[in-house]
Amino acid sequence: MSEQKITINGSLLAFEPGQSILEIAEENGIDIPKLCHLKGAKPTGACRMCLVEVDGWGGLSASCVTPAADGLVVHTESTKVIESRKNTLELLMASGNHNCAIGTPGGSNWEEFQEKAHEYDKGANLCPAWGDCMLQTYAYRYQVKGDMFAKSECPYPLEDTNPFITRDFSRCILCGRCVQACNEIQVNRALSIGKRGSDAKVITGIDTTLADSNCVFCGECIQVCPVGALVEKDVVKIKDHWINDKVRTTCSYCGVGCQLNLHVKDNKVIKVTGVEDAAPNYGSLCVKGRYGFDFISSPERLTKPLIKKDGEFIESSWDEALDLVSNKFNEIKKEHGADALGVFTSARITNEENYIAHKFTRAVLKTNNIDHCARL
Ligand code: SF4
Ligand code: FES
Repeated sequence: MSEQKITINGSLLAFEPGQSILEIAEENGIDIPKLCHLKGAKPTGACRMCLVEVDGWGGLSASCVTPAADGLVVHTESTKVIESRKNTLELLMASGNHNCAIGTPGGSNWEEFQEKAHEYDKGANLCPAWGDCMLQTYAYRYQVKGDMFAKSECPYPLEDTNPFITRDFSRCILCGRCVQACNEIQVNRALSIGKRGSDAKVITGIDTTLADSNCVFCGECIQVCPVGALVEKDVVKIKDHWINDKVRTTCSYCGVGCQLNLHVKDNKVIKVTGVEDAAPNYGSLCVKGRYGFDFISSPERLTKPLIKKDGEFIESSWDEALDLVSNKFNEIKKEHGADALGVFTSARITNEENYIAHKFTRAVLKTNNIDHCARL
């Protein structure tokens, strides 16, 4: 146990050398606002939301990039800190289109705030991340209206020329999380920050579209975007899409076992996100895991067995289909022996299903001819 201690908001806390003030705070349940910090990537100190006041240091320090030192006394919500955060939020909301932030003088009720925002926007151009946006959350927390500075328009048009992701540059706060997620976590290297000053934007390649870049549409950038700048193209068309039930499951596309949250609305899966704090994927997914769920509610799914009769597939009952298959198995076994039969299972089905297939092959068919194919 380390002997080094730091005081945060009056609590004396032990830490390991090398830990940042933000890490120690989070470990001890102290919530410091942050917009650019991305777990698993190198801290950049870009957004200035995590500023804290350290006794004797004069100015404010970004807690995500400031290593702790023995004896430091830190304040995360001092008057100076709150003033600075309010200014940062005002500046962010003045740049681009963040239309959910409304004046709520004296308001302290989240429901009331949301209802007013809905009314204010008249549902017409509501941000697709409404209700699930860190900028909105912090604006409410610090009661920031977004009317302190003159608004600046975003010069870049919305991009949705691919089947999966909508990029709305007018809502981007240039936190850089998508760039880090793409380069440091998924290592696809499709995104970077391009241009300079007020023209800065997240670019792909030499500022082409996602579809024309080397983006593999893993969706990691959507998962980490704290605002509504990157969203799933289909999901945002669903009314009140942010109100959904989360069901945790294991991806069945391959044997890695990535942990997924299925977002279910009206008994339909509307989107998939990776489970952040669980092995093996820690929030990351591939294009199949994140977007390959249409088949679940597809009207083209077979719900009854089909038997080919006179060259045509005819719907039948399960009894008829199972009797047919079992008779054929018995015929082959009788004529050629059990080893004339074999079973291929799949890496895409569950362990339990594979176990049943193995039991069926060995105990019922009486052969050891069983294998799996990764592509089935
Ligand atoms: Fe940050 Fe989202 Fe803009 Fe990327 S698109 S820089 S994650 S706000
Ligand atoms: Fe520390 Fe953004 S979270 S500067």
